[in-house]
Amino acid sequence: MESVIVAIDGPSGTGKSSTSKAVAAKLGLSYLDTGAQYRAITWWMISNGVDVGDAVAVADAAAKPVIVSGTDPARPTITVDGADASGPIRTEEVTSKVSAVSAVPEVRRIITELQRTIARGAEQGIVVEGRDIGTTVLPDADLKIFLTASPEARAARRSGELKGADVHATKQALIKRDAADSSRTTSPLAKADDAVEVDTTDLTLDQVIECVVTLVEEKR
Ligand code: C5P
Repeated sequence: MESVIVAIDGPSGTGKSSTSKAVAAKLGLSYLDTGAQYRAITWWMISNGVDVGDAVAVADAAAKPVIVSGTDPARPTITVDGADASGPIRTEEVTSKVSAVSAVPEVRRIITELQRTIARGAEQGIVVEGRDIGTTVLPDADLKIFLTASPEARAARRSGELKGADVHATKQALIKRDAADSSRTTSPLAKADDAVEVDTTDLTLDQVIECVVTLVEEKR
């Protein structure tokens, strides 16, 4: 089968991760969670006493952590300086600070380079999920998908994942993070002109997966 590069972008809670992992697993492709990389660098900054509100300090430290992503969709991993970071990167503190760190151009430059290297090395092809994959990281991707969903649906899914977190508070936090990610100057969250938009509000996860698998197969 021919190698294929799939970019899946969209705001938080649209089902990007679940969809991307399942599509990659079904089609025998690698998988890259780029949000995990921005979370990992944010976690390192917090752990090492860098003031994440200080863009100069963040830029100065950006090259220090060594971030390694495992691309098996059945068991995606992320390490920082050799230590497993998959738990710590999902804390509320990291979630609330990641948008400030990911807006710093030097952080984006380093992480984007890492993402391109991983995508180039994926011989069977790869599903890469994030915010700027179709627009900036892999503008020549074979297929670009932009997932959307209503804020209510996104908040309900996220609070379910967070085991019963308050839906209203989750919705406000999501809206705030999406606004920050969409309004930053360097490669904001945006739909590429040639991306296929899929509104997942009224779809089950299986329906979204099937839809994306069909779109990938049409490209192969
Ligand atoms: O996808 P996830 O919610 O884990 O992403 C965490 C954060 O990482 C986003 O809110 C955004 O600030 C940043 N991010 C980004 N560009 C990407 C992927 C994630 O700026 N391609």
